[in-house]
Amino acid sequence: MSNWLKTAIFYEIYPNSYMDSNGDGYGDLKGITEKLDYIKSLGANAIWLNPHYDSPFMDGGYDVRDYFKVSPRFGTEADFDEFIGEAHKRGIRVILDLVPGHTSEQHPDFLRSAEPTRNEMYDRFIWTTHEWQFPEGFKAISGRHNRKGNYVVNFYSTQPSLNYGFYNVTEPDWQMPYTSEAAMATRAWLKSVIRFWLDRGADGFRVDMADSLVKNDLSQSEKPATSEIWRDVRAMLDKEYPEAVLVSEWSNPQAIRAGFHADFMLDHHGNPYNRLVRYEEAGQHSYFDIEGRGDAAAFAKGFTEWFNAVKDKGYIAVISCNHDTPRLAPFYSPQQLKAIYTTLFTLPGVPFMYYGDEIGMKYVKDLPSVECGFARTGSRTPMQWNRQKNAGFSTADKTFLPTEDDAVVNAEAQAKDKNSLLNFVKALFEFRKAHEQLTSNDFEIVYAKGAEPLVYKRGNLTVAVNPLGAAQTVNAALTKSAKAVFSAGDAAKINSDGTVTLPPVSATVFQN
Ligand code: GLC
Ligand code: CA
Repeated sequence: MSNWLKTAIFYEIYPNSYMDSNGDGYGDLKGITEKLDYIKSLGANAIWLNPHYDSPFMDGGYDVRDYFKVSPRFGTEADFDEFIGEAHKRGIRVILDLVPGHTSEQHPDFLRSAEPTRNEMYDRFIWTTHEWQFPEGFKAISGRHNRKGNYVVNFYSTQPSLNYGFYNVTEPDWQMPYTSEAAMATRAWLKSVIRFWLDRGADGFRVDMADSLVKNDLSQSEKPATSEIWRDVRAMLDKEYPEAVLVSEWSNPQAIRAGFHADFMLDHHGNPYNRLVRYEEAGQHSYFDIEGRGDAAAFAKGFTEWFNAVKDKGYIAVISCNHDTPRLAPFYSPQQLKAIYTTLFTLPGVPFMYYGDEIGMKYVKDLPSVECGFARTGSRTPMQWNRQKNAGFSTADKTFLPTEDDAVVNAEAQAKDKNSLLNFVKALFEFRKAHEQLTSNDFEIVYAKGAEPLVYKRGNLTVAVNPLGAAQTVNAALTKSAKAVFSAGDAAKINSDGTVTLPPVSATVFQN
């Protein structure tokens, strides 16, 4: 098992939005390469790059037209190689986005499968037998091609599902077993994509909709056939590319059992991440609700169970946000963000910071959708570098999404301000790197009850969090010699009776 993941700190980059090097209004690879020193200065030692492949961009690049080609929008093949080379020179690893389950409707293999007569690609996508067949539980698209039958899609109508076969074959006229020849051919193709980019220097993949491969597979927590495929891929990596890592978009401990090195804990309703920072439902709120309507116990229980289920075999990937999720700002203030990041990134797991979250870039409400981002568009606006034209992102007159001009929320201004979120994030990552307790498997909840302070231990470190707008006191079970070694806001104080008093909206790390 590759072990660089243990101490990895990821920075997620949506390439459209990071840095435009040639003034066409879209971010590109050369732009990212220019900013590698900034990324390094943040303390990140790994990058997750959202899809960079040739695509018609009907879903922000998650509709791949050519898996072996860099999108001309993002630059040349040489720009890609330069980006990887320059990242590696700085000790930064790069994982790419692998979209295994569906292609673009413009992928040549799909277009070939859509021809009216049987050919070598006929069974590589999922088609019903008749044009009036709309099987329950599937999204099937009709009337766009001359092949008799409808094709199944994974997400949008532009993203036809590749055929990895079915676990339960309920309609044998069009469903094939997941071990059928056609399904195995898709699997072999997937491995060829993986090998291609690893040979090119990539350090692994974030795997899009990782649980989507085999249809009629059992429930989320089982998915035996999809898991079998990933274990097969993992075996190939262990043998041929032992340093490569796979991080899944699955959000279920089953992903680790299926061979992923790490799995995202996403913002799914009621799960621990959601309960910690994003939960909202009729009168109930997440733990970080400043008015105290959240519940630390609900988070602690779910997180502990999840962690215990994966800890010996893999990692939870912990996110500040991602390209599908609303950013935490402006829903939280910069001080709240400091306390939230301290909590997220001192929990056991691999940190993933979404670009712009280090400066508190805001989710932009009510933006017209671009490239089928819909509500997600507001989390994809260009990085705010400074106060020049287009926030320093591009010299174009029109950029792919509008830029925000903000005197405080830009990297240049925050670099100069010692109390900025940016400098706080740097200090937090530095602190994490200096304390191996934080990358260990030592984790114990000390106190978690309603909106009272959340307290947990990582080896001889104790983290105490107060989400409220008022000070709170708690028994954090500290030793007599405990000292505050890191804090978001003023540090909590140890009282003479051994309890600690935490300032409003704060997080303190004590060393016992
Ligand atoms: C994943 C991606 C998302 C994309 C979808 C379809 O959820 O993160 O951006 O739209 O898969 O590929
Ligand atoms: Ca560009």
